[in-house]
Amino acid sequence: MCGIVGYVGYRSVVDILLDGLEQLEYRGYDSSGIAVKCENDIKVYKAIGKLNNLREELKSHVSEFSKSTMGIGHIRWATHGAPTVLNAHPHTCNHGDLVLVHNGIIENYKELRERLEKRGCVFKSQTDTEVAAHLIADKYNETGDLTEAVRLATKEIEGAYALCVMHNDHRTTIVATKRNAPLLVGLGDGEYLIASDVPAIIKYTKKAMYLTDNQIVTVTPNSIKLINQEGVEVPQKIEMLPWEPVALSKMGYKHFMLKEIHEQPDVIRNILVGKLHTAAEPVILNEVKLTKDTLKKLNRIQIIACGTSLHAAMVGKYLIETFCGISVDVEASSEYIYRQTVTDEHTLVIGVSQSGETADTLTAIKQAKSKGSHILIITNRPDSSMAREADSLLSVNAGIEVSVAATKSYIAQLMAFYLLSLYMAEIKESTDLSIIQSIKNELMLLPQKIEQVLSNTDEIQKCARKYSGTKDFIYIARGINLPTALEGALKLKEISYINATGYAAGELKHGPIAMLDESMPVLSILMKGIVYEKLLSNSEEAKARNARMIALTNSNDPKLDELFDCIIRVPEVQEFLSPILAVIPLQLIAYYIAEFLGKDVDQPRNLAKSVTVE
Ligand code: F6R
Repeated sequence: MCGIVGYVGYRSVVDILLDGLEQLEYRGYDSSGIAVKCENDIKVYKAIGKLNNLREELKSHVSEFSKSTMGIGHIRWATHGAPTVLNAHPHTCNHGDLVLVHNGIIENYKELRERLEKRGCVFKSQTDTEVAAHLIADKYNETGDLTEAVRLATKEIEGAYALCVMHNDHRTTIVATKRNAPLLVGLGDGEYLIASDVPAIIKYTKKAMYLTDNQIVTVTPNSIKLINQEGVEVPQKIEMLPWEPVALSKMGYKHFMLKEIHEQPDVIRNILVGKLHTAAEPVILNEVKLTKDTLKKLNRIQIIACGTSLHAAMVGKYLIETFCGISVDVEASSEYIYRQTVTDEHTLVIGVSQSGETADTLTAIKQAKSKGSHILIITNRPDSSMAREADSLLSVNAGIEVSVAATKSYIAQLMAFYLLSLYMAEIKESTDLSIIQSIKNELMLLPQKIEQVLSNTDEIQKCARKYSGTKDFIYIARGINLPTALEGALKLKEISYINATGYAAGELKHGPIAMLDESMPVLSILMKGIVYEKLLSNSEEAKARNARMIALTNSNDPKLDELFDCIIRVPEVQEFLSPILAVIPLQLIAYYIAEFLGKDVDQPRNLAKSVTVE
C-alpha cells in the first residue's frame, strides 16, 4: 500500500528518498514519485511501475537537484484513478508551489473537489489526494502559515490520511500529519525523516516518534514542533526503535519469501523462549492481562483478522474451543465492522495482524474497544497502531516480513494460538493434563521437523513443476486443517495468479465436484487423526472424476500410492499440531510454481503488504 518518505537536513535528499522508498517497496505499489526543493522552485519527478523507472527518469535531471537537502517521496498503490504518471504522487496545487504526498483515502473528496473547482482550482488527476493539495494551498493563501494551513485543511478532510507537505516559500520546512494511517518521524542530528514505516528511516536513526491521530508535526533541520488539531503544542513521545537495518537482506536466498519460509524453525524457537520451558511446567503468558478469575469465567471470544491472519484465527478457534471449551467466533474484519455484533465487556476480542496496520482490523478493534471488550492483539509489529490499542499485547517476534505473501508470520500466529489456548486450558483446568503435556512436548520438537521438510524439497519441486501449467487448483481438508487448505490456496493465487480454492472436503459433493475432470489438480491434506479416513473417501470421490490427485500426508499407508499421482510427505506429528507442518510444503509449492512461471514472487501484482485502506 502507499508509502511516504520525507527528509529535511544536510544530506543529498534524492538518495535518501529513493533509499527510503526502496525500503517501503515491500508494501506493494504501482507508481512512484518525489518532490525536491531546488534553488528557485520545487521539482516533481514521477514514473509508473517499479522504482527503477523513477531512477531512470531522474538520471537526466541530476543537475537540478544535486544540492537539494529537502524533499518528499511516495510509492502509490492505486485506489482512486489508474496507475498513471498524472495520478502518481506528489500532487501539487495550481501554481505548483505546494506539494504533498498522501497515504489513505479522503472520503469526502468529491464535495471538496466541487467546492475547490468553483474557487478556480484546476484538477490534473483522478485522485482523491489532489483535493488535499488544493485545500491546503487555499488555507496557506489565507494564513501564510504552512502548519496552520495543514491544521485548518485537515479539519475539513474526512477519511484516512498520512500527509507530508512542503511549500516553495519554505526552504527547510516539512509539515506532516495523520489520521487512521501510520506515520513516524525519525530524529537525527541536524536532520529529520518522516515515513510510513520503520525500514525507510532505520539506516539513519533509531530515535523516533510515532504520530497519533490528528497530531501535526513541523520539522526543520534543527527543530521539531508537535501540535494537536486545536493548535495546542503537545509533548513528544520519543522512543528508541528496537530495529537493525540488516534485517532487510535476502541473505543469499533468491527471494525474501524463500528466506522467510526457511526462517520458520527459528521463529518457533523464538516465540517459545520464556513462555514454554518444559512440558511439565505451565505456559507463561505474562502478556495476557486478564485476571485468572476473568479467564475462568470467560464464555465468549471473538477473533477478528483478514487474509492469512484470518486463517491463523480459524486454527485458533479450533484450539480454544477444543482445549478451553469457550465458544469462539472468527470473523473477517471487513464484515465485522458493518453489522451489529454482539460484543460487550464480557467478550474477549482478539485481533490478529502481521502488520498491525490493516485498516479493517484496526477499525474493528476500535469498535470492540468502545463497547468495553478486552482487546488482545496478536501481531508481528509491537510498534504498530493495533498494538497501541491493545489491553494485552502478544508480540510474535517473527522479525520483519518483507515478502508480500505472509509465511513466517502465519507460523508465528499459529504458535501464539497454541500457547494461548494451552495457557487458558491450564488456568481453566479444562483439558486433561496428559494431553496438554503431549502437545507441549511436540511443540518443542516442531523446529526440527520443519527443518526436515525444508532440507529435502525435491518432491515438492517436482510436484510444483508438474502442475505449474494448470489454470485451476483445488485444496481439500477437514477439521483443523481446513484453514491450511484455505491458506495453501491463498498463497498459490496471490503469487502465481492461478485460480486456487480451498474447500472443506465434505462440501465437495455439494457443488464443487462438478468442476472436476482430468485437468483439475486436487491436493488433499491427509493428516493422521479423526478425519483421515473421511478425507481418504473424499479423495476417492475426486479420483473417480479423473482429477489429478496430490497427497500431502504424514501417513505411509500403501493405499495412497494407488490413489495419488504425487505424494508429499511430512514427518509424524499429532493431528492438533499438523497445521504447522502441513502449511510448509504448501508455501513451497506456491513459491516454486510462481518461480517456475517467472512471477514477481516478493511483490505480486495488485497486492500490498500493509493494507491501510478499508
Ligand atoms: C497473504 C497476506 C494477506 C494478509 C492480510 C492481513 O499472504 O499476507 O492476506 O494476511 O492482508 O494482513 P495483516 O496480517 O497485516 O493484518
